[in-house]
Amino acid sequence: MKSIMTRNKIGVAGTLVVIACFLSVPAYAVDAADAQELLEKSKCLKCHDVEKTKKGKAYKKIAADYKSNPNAVAAITKHVTEPSQVKIEGEMVDHGVVKTRDKARIQNLVEWILSR
Ligand code: HEC
Repeated sequence: MKSIMTRNKIGVAGTLVVIACFLSVPAYAVDAADAQELLEKSKCLKCHDVEKTKKGKAYKKIAADYKSNPNAVAAITKHVTEPSQVKIEGEMVDHGVVKTRDKARIQNLVEWILSR
């Protein structure tokens, strides 16, 4: 009897610890300041704005377009890390890439864009 009681207490405590972890760490924590700093540094803002479409689509629009795409993270990561060309006013121009090789920063930026 005693051993069952002890086990139950550990079970309850364990459950509480698990719940506390979920409450204190948001499942999806994007570092917005770091994302924006990287956009600035990489000159992305020359062509993209969060709200409105300039030469490139607004990040809100991109996020909406990729909303139900299971490959969104992979596709956007590729787009912002590998050189490519995009059409602006009928002309093909080089699309920029992010000015970092830090995978965590790139991932953070991609998730920031996709969560606009
Ligand atoms: C010379 C202007 C220009 C620059 C600089 C630029 N972009 Fe773009 N970007 C475009 C255009 C044009 C497109 C394609 C059409 C559109 O989305 O409007 C595009 C598309 C994208 C897309 C969507 C890709 C898709 O599959 O829909 C993302 C994400 C993106 N850019 C992010 C970035 C990031 C991050 C940077 C900085 C590293 C950057 N862009 C720099 C013009 C630019």
